[in-house]
Amino acid sequence: MKKVYVETYGCQMNEHDSERMLAILSGRGYLRTDRPEDAGVVIVNTCSVRGKAEQKAYSSIGRYVELKKRRPGMRIVFSGCVAQQEGEAILSRFEGIDVVLGPSRVHMIDELLDTAGLAGSSVAVEPYGGQDRFRSPVKNFGGVKAYVTIMEGCDHFCTYCTVPYLRGREVSRRAREIIDEVEALVGSGVREVTLLGQNVTSYRDASEGRDMTLYYLLSLLNDIRGLERIRFITSHPKDLDERLIAAFADFGKVCRHMHLPVQSGSDRVLRLMARGYTTQAYMNSLGKLRKAVPDIAVTSDFIVGFPSETEDDHRDTVLFVKNAGYDNIFSFKYSDRPLARASKLEDKVQPDVIARRLRDLQSVQLGLTRYIYASLVGTTQRVLVEGNSKRQGRMQGRTSQGRIVNFEGVADKGAVADIVIGDYSDNALYGRCMNREGRDVH
Ligand code: SAH
Ligand code: SF4
Ligand code: F3S
Repeated sequence: MKKVYVETYGCQMNEHDSERMLAILSGRGYLRTDRPEDAGVVIVNTCSVRGKAEQKAYSSIGRYVELKKRRPGMRIVFSGCVAQQEGEAILSRFEGIDVVLGPSRVHMIDELLDTAGLAGSSVAVEPYGGQDRFRSPVKNFGGVKAYVTIMEGCDHFCTYCTVPYLRGREVSRRAREIIDEVEALVGSGVREVTLLGQNVTSYRDASEGRDMTLYYLLSLLNDIRGLERIRFITSHPKDLDERLIAAFADFGKVCRHMHLPVQSGSDRVLRLMARGYTTQAYMNSLGKLRKAVPDIAVTSDFIVGFPSETEDDHRDTVLFVKNAGYDNIFSFKYSDRPLARASKLEDKVQPDVIARRLRDLQSVQLGLTRYIYASLVGTTQRVLVEGNSKRQGRMQGRTSQGRIVNFEGVADKGAVADIVIGDYSDNALYGRCMNREGRDVH
């Protein structure tokens, strides 16, 4: 039996790339395994967004190169953003890698494995612009949710970020192909899709004319029968205009959640980051969004300790978080990325100061998350049931807002259930399932 082991780091784009590689290889008769020591092919799908993620890529590839010495038939694929960054150079650092695969060439994994067998290592990191880079065999391994790529790359060049250098310029996928893929997924049992891209709000299918924007794409997907929910990630605050806001009101399947990374609450830092908006402009757009969609949940990303960040800048960020009313935030310590311009800036913030500011920010947000969750106790939430929760006897699903709900009671996977919320923790709600008539199923 041919087996494949995949290890994934980084964002949802990377998770989806791993799924795509698994689907392609399963078409070649490979079965997934959790044990690298049993695998014929080991894939390390790497991320380079922060220094720590890059280091993880090297330490795991080091482990598999050692493992290969004891298992000579095994083949190693080094993919993702560190593969893109290092290219051929990685081969001289680690002996035994068979394929070096850039993110735009994921769809070629099977061919590359074939040629690697014949001619030593294959290196495929030349950016590939064709539409088939998005191709993904529809292979539902039993889930009710699926990712669908709608665009790739980034034209923004925020000064701290390495992503544009590794994923290249923005390329949108044709709407027709997206719709075909979503229809096929729905046919295989999927109820919820998450549209993926580094900047989904810049989506534009040029072959269909200038107006084929994310709004129009959502309108087409909203009409697909059997599809229950549509999410999209990640949005850029600069693109949050009235048209996009209208999508939440106009299309019932678009979930009440927006991930809208702000990165800092200080205008001085935002300028240095070259984010292209002020805190005031962000707050104005957020205000319009909340007015049009009162039940929306908004989440965000923050970078703490950008070069030259002062205590005043940090206080501005904390104040910003207190005002924004986020459901949750992801906050990261600033990490120097050699390709990104900010790495040349002087006045780096000391690691202990960054650690303290991060704790500070996270504890402020935790209080706000608890406040929002507490306000939901006693309400009934519509939950798409995803399956059993980790704790026995409970099931798990999500609300339209993306909040995790663990509940007691019986419900079918893939069904939409009404859950009365009785309690909450720092990252989930807890409740009991009622049937449609409101009767307790127990
Ligand atoms: N395209 C998305 C996601 C980019 S990467 C966006 O524009 O928001 C995901 C997150 O990683 C970013 O939002 C940012 O908060 C964080 N990040 C990116 N570069 C970083 C760096 N050099 N150090 C620390 N965090 C970083
Ligand atoms: Fe990176 Fe900025 Fe592009 Fe996001 S928008 S991927 S943070 S450069
Ligand atoms: Fe990481 Fe590349 Fe995603 S750097 S965050 S895997 S785009």
